[in-house]
Amino acid sequence: MTRLTTCPDAEAVADRAAALIVRQLARARDERGVAHVALSGGTTPGRTYQLLGADPAALEHVEVWFADERCVGPEDPESNYRLASETLLMPAAIEPARIHRMEGELGPHAGAERYASELATRLTGERGLPVLDVVVLGIGPDAHIASLFPGAATLTAADDAICLGVADSPKPPPERITLSLGVLRAARSCLLLASGAAKADAVSAMLGEPSRHAPASLLRRERLSVIVDDAAAPPPPHP
Ligand code: 6PG
Repeated sequence: MTRLTTCPDAEAVADRAAALIVRQLARARDERGVAHVALSGGTTPGRTYQLLGADPAALEHVEVWFADERCVGPEDPESNYRLASETLLMPAAIEPARIHRMEGELGPHAGAERYASELATRLTGERGLPVLDVVVLGIGPDAHIASLFPGAATLTAADDAICLGVADSPKPPPERITLSLGVLRAARSCLLLASGAAKADAVSAMLGEPSRHAPASLLRRERLSVIVDDAAAPPPPHP
């Protein structure tokens, strides 16, 4: 059962999200000595990353991965790595050995291949898929997650696919690297954040019938926490 939390505004979403991530990372660290978190890009998670970046102790023994990346260099304003670096990695002084950047500059397919082997080497787990402890996701108005877009071939990739290249993303830039749906579903927990009325339909679609037209609806619901603000919240069920 998906855990849905509704908050008054985007700041409250970030507060709740940061607190939940800290708890989930602490549990993973207690159980396995190290915790693995994957971060998404976009505008929604930035404030959550800032709050986490202000709490370096909560990030000890945590390794940082990425759910997706645009095929640009790490300095590019469009880079998800740059977003994470400025808001979390540098403020928390995370050592480079604990940061696993997707090399967007390599291009979609070479970058995906390189990241898949890094993940497979560092993290083994369920059915040969790497198991992350926490994946932080945003959601697009079309209910895309990471760089998994509605009706895209990436959604029907092989079961053992770890990381995929995207050359035709409907959201700019067109070339991207993304974790596969299989890896998102194998993760111990996914945390999806949304704020603003523009996301309300996508959030409802995510909670509706699983469909390749709404990639977020394909996430493993018993491992999914969703934190939204009132504007993005699904309408209350009819009595
Ligand atoms: C990306 C993201 C993408 C994002 C959604 C929502 O690299 O673009 O990972 O999946 O989470 O598009 O974006 P916003 O938060 O900007 O609405």
